[in-house]
This record gives sequence, structure tokens and C-alpha cells, in this order.
Amino acid sequence: MSTAAVVGIGDISALHLDAIRANRDIELVGVCDVDAARAEAAGRALGVPFFTDHRELLRAVSPRVVHITTPHDQHVPVALDALEAGAHVLTEKPIGQTVAAGRCLVDRAAASDRKVGVVFQNRYNPTAVAIKDAITSGALGPITGARAAVWWFRPSAYYTAAPWRGQWLTAGGGVMINQAIHTLDLLLWYLGAPSTVHGVAATLSLTGVIEVEDTATIVIDHDSGVRSTLFATNAHHTNADIELEITGRDGSVRLVGGEAWLTDDGGTRRVATDTQSSGERSYWGKGHSLLIDDFHARLDDPGPFWIGPADGLVPLQVLREVYRQSGILPEGHAL
Ligand SMILES: NC(=O)c1ccc[n+]([C@@H]2O[C@H](COP(=O)([O-])OP(=O)(O)OC[C@H]3O[C@@H](n4cnc5c(N)ncnc54)[C@H](O)[C@@H]3O)[C@@H](O)[C@H]2O)c1
Repeated sequence: MSTAAVVGIGDISALHLDAIRANRDIELVGVCDVDAARAEAAGRALGVPFFTDHRELLRAVSPRVVHITTPHDQHVPVALDALEAGAHVLTEKPIGQTVAAGRCLVDRAAASDRKVGVVFQNRYNPTAVAIKDAITSGALGPITGARAAVWWFRPSAYYTAAPWRGQWLTAGGGVMINQAIHTLDLLLWYLGAPSTVHGVAATLSLTGVIEVEDTATIVIDHDSGVRSTLFATNAHHTNADIELEITGRDGSVRLVGGEAWLTDDGGTRRVATDTQSSGERSYWGKGHSLLIDDFHARLDDPGPFWIGPADGLVPLQVLREVYRQSGILPEGHAL
């Protein structure tokens, strides 16, 4: 049996709360939001104690796991307090809004006997697993490259509803740190650590609405010697399916329309299909509950959770480096 508290009762917290409440081995013991009305509404609706300060929550209900679903700049401060209080931490991506913040969590997690997990839930998609298997099984032969694209749409209202999302200090970036980081994480999971990164990021469509970028292109040379490219925008007219293709000497595997298709000497065949979520936010996918269940189920396992802060730091380093190269980080902002 595990207990959980959720800190940050906004959009994504609903998926965490649903997953916690659907799991008979997890008890929700508290919620917290700096917005007192939000905290109270959630606490009353869910029948649990509610707080406006996560430190009070930690003292009062001692959750075994703290789920962090706050704006990016609050992830590390809440995580450090939770670790200090002896809780395990499951934080939404990115691990922090800057590389310095992310490093701080990596170091503190390494010195702690508690687990820290990062919500890169797309790694649990059947298509993501099938693509990983195609690579590691050798079915594609030696990998020669990869490409990915995120053509999404975020209206001005998405940013005006929660202004932190469009600001450097609170979000640490735009489409790359908030949306495309999942696809960037997959590329890094598939192709390994980056050796060099080149990129350009800019605000092309949401000028005057957000400070951060809405469009970016990254070229990554990986330690393995292969190259990948990632294009991402929040300025498309709709949320198109994520595109991703890994190519090798003997074949390729491609994510298209929520399906993974493998092509080799034997032709082209579908190797996995994702179960799409329904509704307006279908792009969130089904991975949250799988990852949340897995994190809680593995709390007594020896060793760290398989998606930890060190995994969260690498994409953060890549995308912040692209912001630096693009000259869009405001004066005085650390990487
Ligand atoms: N994994 C995914 O697919 C996915 C999808 C959407 C959002 N997210 C992530 O979830 C996080 C939250 O995003 P959102 O869109 O739900 O944001 P949101 O603005 O809708 O909600 C954030 C909530 O946190 C509260 N908050 C701010 N500082 C706090 C603090 N110190 N303590 C407690 N509460 C605090 C705010 O009042 C707000 O209610 C972000 O890290 C975002 O990147 C992940």
C-alpha cells in the first residue's frame, strides 16, 4: 500500500488524481495548491485534507509519494522539500526550468535513498516500446539516423489561462520545454546521449502573447555517431499526430497516426498501435496511469526508478542550449 499527495491542482493534476484513485494500492492523502480556492475545491471534492503550502502538507499527512504538477520553476523547490521530508517524488516534466535547477535535483536525488521519477509517460506507449524493441533487437541493423516532428496548436488562450506557460522565468521555454520534450526524450532514449547540438528557436506566431519560443528545429549528433532531427511548433492549425522515424542499415520503423510500422526485407507491417485517449486533450495519451502505477509499484525495488532526474537533465540541456544558440534567453538568465 502506498500513499500519495498531489501538489499543483491545475490541468494535468486531473490525470494524476484519476490514476491514483483508480489504483486500489494507492491512497490519496492530500492535495495542495497555492491558489486557496483550487486547493479547497479539490480537497472537498476528493474528501482529503487540502493545503496552500506543500511544506504544511508534508508535515501534516507525510505522503509516501509526492506528485509534482506545478509550473516548471516550482518542480525543484517542491521536490527538494519532499525528499528532505522523506517522501519519494514523481515530478512532471521538465525536471526544472533551467539546467542549474535540474542539476540541483539530480545531485540531491543521488544523495537520497528516496526515488525520484520523471513523467515521460510516452515511453509507456505500445508504439514507443515497439520502436525501442526494433532498435535493441537488431531488427533494423546498425542505426543510421532519426527524424521527428511535432506539429501542434496552442491558442493564445492556453497561455492567458496560465501565464506562467509563456514566460522565461516560470516555464524556462516554450514548445520545446513544454510540449516537444516528450519527443526529444524519445529520440534520446532511442539513439543515446548527445555529443553536439545545433538548433534555432523563435517566436513566429505568438509574438506579443508569449516571451518564449513557439517553433524550433534541433539537429543532434549522438555519441553513437548518428544524427537526429526534431522540428516542433505550437503554431500549427491543429494538433497533428507526432511523427517519428528511426532508420537503420537493414530497415526502418516509423510512428504514424498512433501506429508503429516496421519496414525491412520482408515488407512493411504494423508492429504496435496506441490506444488513443478521447476528447480535447487526446494528445496527452494513456501513459500517465501506466507510469504512475509503475512508479508506486516499484517503490520497494532496489535502485532508482528507470526514468529518473538524470534522464530528465539531458533533454533540458539540449533544449536550453538551443535557446542559447538562438540568442533568445533573456539577458542574465543562466542556462
Ligand atoms: N506529461 C504531460 O503530458 C503533461 C501535460 C501537460 C502538463 N504537464 C506538466 O504539468 C505541469 C503543470 O502543468 P499544467 O498545465 O497542469 O499547469 P496549470 O497552470 O494548469 O496548473 C498548475 C497549478 O499549480 C499551482 N501552483 C503553482 N505554484 C505552486 C506551488 N508552489 N505549490 C502548489 N501549487 C502551485 C497553480 O496555482 C496551478 O493551479 C507542468 O510541469 C507541465 O509541463 C505535463
